[in-house]
Amino acid sequence: MSRPLGLPVVRSSAFVFANAHDYAEVLGGQVAGYAYSRIDNPTATTFAMAVAALEAPGLADVGAEPFASGMAAVSATLLGHLMADDEVIGPANCYGGTWSLFTRWLPRWGIRPLLVDLTDLAAVQAAVTPSTRMIYAETIANPTLSVPDLAALAEIAHRAQSRLVVDSTFATPVICRPLEHGADVVLHSATKFLGGHADATGGVVVGRREHLGPVRDARIDLGGCLAPDEAFLLHRGLETLALRVRQQSATAAVLAAKLAGHPAVARVRYPGLPSHPQHGIASWLFRDGLFGSLITMDIRGGREAAMAFCDGLRAVRIASSLGSVHSKVSHAASTTHRQLDDAALAAAGIAPGQVRLSVGVEDPEDLLADLRQALDVT
Ligand SMILES: Cc1ncc(COP(=O)(O)O)c(C=O)c1O
Repeated sequence: MSRPLGLPVVRSSAFVFANAHDYAEVLGGQVAGYAYSRIDNPTATTFAMAVAALEAPGLADVGAEPFASGMAAVSATLLGHLMADDEVIGPANCYGGTWSLFTRWLPRWGIRPLLVDLTDLAAVQAAVTPSTRMIYAETIANPTLSVPDLAALAEIAHRAQSRLVVDSTFATPVICRPLEHGADVVLHSATKFLGGHADATGGVVVGRREHLGPVRDARIDLGGCLAPDEAFLLHRGLETLALRVRQQSATAAVLAAKLAGHPAVARVRYPGLPSHPQHGIASWLFRDGLFGSLITMDIRGGREAAMAFCDGLRAVRIASSLGSVHSKVSHAASTTHRQLDDAALAAAGIAPGQVRLSVGVEDPEDLLADLRQALDVT
């Protein structure tokens, strides 16, 4: 007997049953199986369960739900767990799409977001009310790279009979496993590191079954299901995830240290630098001495100088997204965080000259030379 080594792509939206009774039982959930790909698809399920195995290797009763994108995962998690008159404590600095969901959409449905600096535990505690149902954090925040104390946030959330949800896109399970630090649900934009090659869009949510049920229901009813071809690419990406993340993090650590002293750079933020405000937290929260492959830099001279720096790069590409094998740069205020006005940018700690560097797998010396030549002409 043999079976395929590669993951089979089940490119079918519908499934055939031997009889009407079997069909009813699978749809009704009495028997495990596949009925319709918006509900479950074998390729998508295999991808999600592979992420669960990475996020929660020793934990029992953990499941995972695959999504069409990171934002589909975020929105189904929020809408599955929250209802009108609930409050959610979220980060004042986070991915712009998530920030937009918090500030623009949740209030329309009567859900009150309280956005605070999650590294300030007193502020988080002060934001808790009897209506708090969720604390929502990013392991490494987009784009300021702040690192909240997940164990302390879990304690505050659980004391308030609410849940801690963590977007761990920037960390990946290679660097941090939030469920091991008390989080109830962890989610990813799989578009980034999990896929790793900038050729597939997806999301995934992992958690204990009790916390996953509402997320699954929201996914099915809101329709953000992962397509089987995308699931294949994302699953293939997982096979090299640890190799890529280790190499990318090692290169980023070298670049961050070298760039910190450059006269054209006002500030470098990287969780691995002792100057990072949460370096101590990152040192125990993160695994194997890895601190990720995202670096932010405040370029002296503000917005114009930051854009000129981006334009001067050759090996590092001006490109959307992050976490792939390619090194990329983006200017936060005009791209990923364009939804924030000046006041919100300042509140989120995003300087006008801030650029985000996503370090890929290219030769570290080539990257350093490229960054230096672009900084020299700003
Ligand atoms: C931290 C984080 N979460 C969620 C998302 C949304 O993911 P997607 O673009 O796959 O919807 C992003 C996208 O950049 C992100 O950076």
